[in-house]
Amino acid sequence: MRQLATILSNRLIATATMEMKIEIAPQAVAPGTFFHVKTSELLRRPLSVANVEDNVVTFLYKVIGSGTADLAARRTGDVLDVLGPLGNGFPLEQTGKRVVLVGGGIGVPPLYYTRRLLAARGIETVAILGFDTKTSIFYEDAFRELGETIITTVDGTYGEMGFVTGPLARVDADVLFSCGPEPMLKAVAASHIEERYISIENRMGCGIGACFACVCEAPGGYVKVCSDGPVFRAEEVTL
Ligand code: FES
Repeated sequence: MRQLATILSNRLIATATMEMKIEIAPQAVAPGTFFHVKTSELLRRPLSVANVEDNVVTFLYKVIGSGTADLAARRTGDVLDVLGPLGNGFPLEQTGKRVVLVGGGIGVPPLYYTRRLLAARGIETVAILGFDTKTSIFYEDAFRELGETIITTVDGTYGEMGFVTGPLARVDADVLFSCGPEPMLKAVAASHIEERYISIENRMGCGIGACFACVCEAPGGYVKVCSDGPVFRAEEVTL
């Protein structure tokens, strides 16, 4: 549903990374879903849901172009035109299983809300979060409050040096939830974890399944990331 949401805060929390909180109309928001947000650019921009508390939705986004620079310039009290929540989200019915959450960079945000809801259901989780460097890291304490959290940095300035696949190889879990850049998703989709779900980030047009701007190859055809996903079983898509 389209709505005009009030911005409650919008602040820098790591290198080129902003945290924005908006107030939406009361509604259920599943973890792994996204909002399609109007910026100064022609097309809306999909922003994944990093958290929801009462009617307050948190987005974490990287400032990488004119659309996100426009978002970063918005102030408390401004109104944001959003469409959502959209997409399917991560399956939370994992009772009795151990879930490993693997996030890379700006793919980390949806895993925070997902982990909170898994924890509320008493499901044990371990998080592996990969960043480029120490100053890119965000939400480390928030993740640690919810359980074991392993941080990696590509340059070794914090946590384990290297990629998330290093610690993932030694983790014992039944289910994997992951979101991040495509090379990372490709690697985790081939991991030893039996059930693997990946959230794909793609350029989008309409956000509601009508324009084909977001299609992704799949065995036997294609899928629309916005309406069939963004969360897929690893074997449902061809990366
Ligand atoms: Fe239009 Fe997905 S963005 S079909």
